[in-house]
Amino acid sequence: MISIRSGIHGDTLRPNEAPGMPNRTSSVQHWSTTRNHRLIISCINRYYGVSRAIKGENGSSSIEDTFFKPGQEGEARQKLFNTISPVYDELNDRFSFGLHRVWKRMAVKWSKAKRGDRVLDSCCGSGDIARIAAEIVGKGGQVIGLDFSQDMLEDAKRRRQDGGSRIEWVQGDALEYPYADGYFDAATMGYGLRNVSDIPRALRELHRVLRKGGCVAILDFNNSSDSVVDGIQGFFLDSLVVPAAEAEGVGDEYRYLRPSIKKYPNGQTLEKLARSSGFEKARYYEIGFGLMGCLVCQK
Ligand SMILES: C[S@@+](CC[C@H](N)C(=O)[O-])C[C@H]1O[C@@H](n2cnc3c(N)ncnc32)[C@H](O)[C@@H]1O
Repeated sequence: MISIRSGIHGDTLRPNEAPGMPNRTSSVQHWSTTRNHRLIISCINRYYGVSRAIKGENGSSSIEDTFFKPGQEGEARQKLFNTISPVYDELNDRFSFGLHRVWKRMAVKWSKAKRGDRVLDSCCGSGDIARIAAEIVGKGGQVIGLDFSQDMLEDAKRRRQDGGSRIEWVQGDALEYPYADGYFDAATMGYGLRNVSDIPRALRELHRVLRKGGCVAILDFNNSSDSVVDGIQGFFLDSLVVPAAEAEGVGDEYRYLRPSIKKYPNGQTLEKLARSSGFEKARYYEIGFGLMGCLVCQK
C-alpha cells in the first residue's frame, strides 16, 4: 500500500542502504452519535463555505497569522500543540488509517539507528517514534524524546514504554538542543520540521548534535508539485480532517495544517537546505502515494 518513489535528486543515500501505537486511554476513543452529527454538520458548513470567513481574500489562509504573530511564534506553537494533545493520537490514527505508524517505523529505519545507539527523537510529541527507536536500540541504548510542549510530553510519559530501553523525555527547543556536538548516533523528527519557526536553524542543530556519519530521518507531509496529489491532500485535509477536528473542538488548530504544508519547502529545496546546513548527503523520498515525504540526511 505504500509507494516509495525515488528521491528527486542528489546523492545516493537510499533508505534500504541507510538502512504501533501502544494503547492509550483516551476520552475520544469512539465516535459518539453526537460527534457524528457534529461532524456531518461541519462537513456541510465547510461545503457551503462558512469557514471561508477565516481565509484571506487571495485564497491563502490567514490562520497562520492568527496563530503565529511575529515575535511570539515559539510560544504560539507551544500553545497550539498543548491544545491539540488530547486528540492528537486519535486523529492521526483515524485519518492515516493507522499508516502513520508504518511511516514512522520507516523513518526510524532510515535513520540507521541500531542496537546500543543513542538516538534523538526531536519534536517527539506523544512519543510514537521514540518508542519505535527504543525497540531498536534495546536495553543498551538510549533514546531522548524532546519536545517543547509540556502536555505532549505528559502524554508521552503516560503511555506504555516498549523495548525496555531507556527513554528520557526532555522539554526543550529543537532550535537549541541542550546537548554537546556529536552526542547522538542517529536522529528522527516526525511532523516537526514543518512546525519549527526556523527550518535552516533546526537542520543546523540536528547536524551539530549528530556524530560524523550519523543519519537523521525527517518525516512530514509532502508539499507536492503534482496537482492530483495536491488536490487529494487538500480535499482530505479540508473536507475530512478539519471537520473531524472541529467536532473535537480544535478546528482552528487543524485548519493551520494545509497552509503550513503549502509553506513547507518541497523535496528538492529540503535537500538543498540540508546540504547547506552541513550534511554530506541528503535525499528526499516521497512516500504514502506522495502525500508524505521523508528527508534522509547523513553527516
Ligand atoms: C505534529 S507534532 C508531531 C509529534 C510526533 N513527532 C509525531 O510524529 O506524532 C509536532 C511536534 O513538534 C513540537 N515542536 C514544534 N516546534 C518545536 C520546537 N521548536 N522545539 C521542540 N518541539 C517543537 C510540537 O510541540 C509538537 O509536539
